[in-house]
Amino acid sequence: MFNKTKVTNKTMELADCKAEWTFNETYKCWCLEDILYTAKAVTPKFQRLSIFVPEPYMRKDGEINQARQMNGYTAQTVPVIFENNSAGYMQMTHTWLGGPRCYAEQYLEQGYVYITCGNRGHESKDADGRYCGKAPANLVDLKTALRFIRHNQSLIPGDMNKIISVGWSAGGAMSTLLAVTGNNKNFTSYLEENGAFMEESDAVYASQIYCPVTDLEHADLAYEWLFAADKENEAGAVAPAGIMTPFEEALSIRLKDAYINYFNNLKLVNPDNKEILQLTGDVRTGNGYEYLMSKLNESASIYLKKLENKELSAEYSVADYILVNEKSEWLSWDGKKAIIKSLDSYILSHRRRLKPCTSFDTLKKESCENKVFGTPENPNMHFNPQIADAISELREQFPKEYADYYTEYAKVKDDANLAKRVYLINPLNYIGTDEKSDQAKYCRIRVGASDADTSFTVSMTLALKLQEAGIQTDYQIVWEQPHSEADYKGEVIDWIKSIV
Ligand code: DHB
Repeated sequence: MFNKTKVTNKTMELADCKAEWTFNETYKCWCLEDILYTAKAVTPKFQRLSIFVPEPYMRKDGEINQARQMNGYTAQTVPVIFENNSAGYMQMTHTWLGGPRCYAEQYLEQGYVYITCGNRGHESKDADGRYCGKAPANLVDLKTALRFIRHNQSLIPGDMNKIISVGWSAGGAMSTLLAVTGNNKNFTSYLEENGAFMEESDAVYASQIYCPVTDLEHADLAYEWLFAADKENEAGAVAPAGIMTPFEEALSIRLKDAYINYFNNLKLVNPDNKEILQLTGDVRTGNGYEYLMSKLNESASIYLKKLENKELSAEYSVADYILVNEKSEWLSWDGKKAIIKSLDSYILSHRRRLKPCTSFDTLKKESCENKVFGTPENPNMHFNPQIADAISELREQFPKEYADYYTEYAKVKDDANLAKRVYLINPLNYIGTDEKSDQAKYCRIRVGASDADTSFTVSMTLALKLQEAGIQTDYQIVWEQPHSEADYKGEVIDWIKSIV
């Protein structure tokens, strides 16, 4: 891998590779691709980035053209989109124009500078075959890349005070972390070890966060609360389709109850009326539940309005849409507002459970979060001590499962190093707490209404926390969108225009 990896820069100074900029006729942009962002790369294939610059801001010889404009921006004022390609908490390369998960076009069309960045993941190995990518390596790599870009800012068009981070799923988690952990001291030693430019900043101006799979410490609990009514999971990456065993059903109830407790202790504030949001026990009531339903209803309303106004590419009418698959049994529309009958009707009729119980820190350690492609010296590992507590409560009822699973989960409780690593990559630890970071001014969160990769309450909680901490946060669930860069065409651009 080390020899085969293409690296354009010989040094960390982009002045040395001015001649390497090429022009892409299709996208009308200058390209500097496959740039190693640290001289201490242990997995060069993944610790690279590519830079794409709209045509007006550069000359053929890699010189910045200060004279020309695009869409009112100059090489000095144009925002820089920094998109991470992180997925599944695994190693990912940067992407390329027209490549998989490449969203460059919509940004380049507007005249923005676009950077795509790769990173290590938990399965990364160095040249000697040693694991070198465990958390927080993914985030540390992205911070290292931001510092590299700033170190070379005189060679790259763009306002480096207007870097806008973008990412989805695990990349959405990373985009969130970049927003809230800018220059936080917790990462200093990791950055030094990673060869980052320590005098540069890794803060971002704003973050676009798509479908964030984050708050892994509580994601298993949140999942059981959301999908409590559904005892059967669809086939997915974590597990084949299946029905819960009696043990899993009992565990699910324990985790759901633990979530209600956790959520209520957060004392989240409804930004509309300043009420403290709460969930109640077994019945789906409480203003926390109602707040989530208001976001889902808003999502459906926006979609149906757009459908009615023919703003979507769909060929069907609103009436057709509601009749399809007997949606009228759980969805109503009065021409202005959509109302979903209940969360459970939505789950059971429309967006079924994808993952089993447990869903992230899975029982058999086969999820992308807890599978480390184990070897005896680096075993797959659990990370959520709350699951140990729940299993412990089921000891008498399910002795076999207790014997099978408890000890492994309980090990987490004694592993301070693991707890630290889990802490470092949970954005909630940095929002409205004593942690000192240079935080983004703006965040925009978009989550597909058909996304069952994590509970809706994970991003809802994140949005509410960010808002409460004074970060201007635009949060919506996007109807009918799966786990993806869930958005309506052009709306991310409208948001960027509104903040720069
Ligand atoms: C991703 C998806 C998941 O379901 C998950 O648990 C973690 C990450 C992803 O697409 O990045």
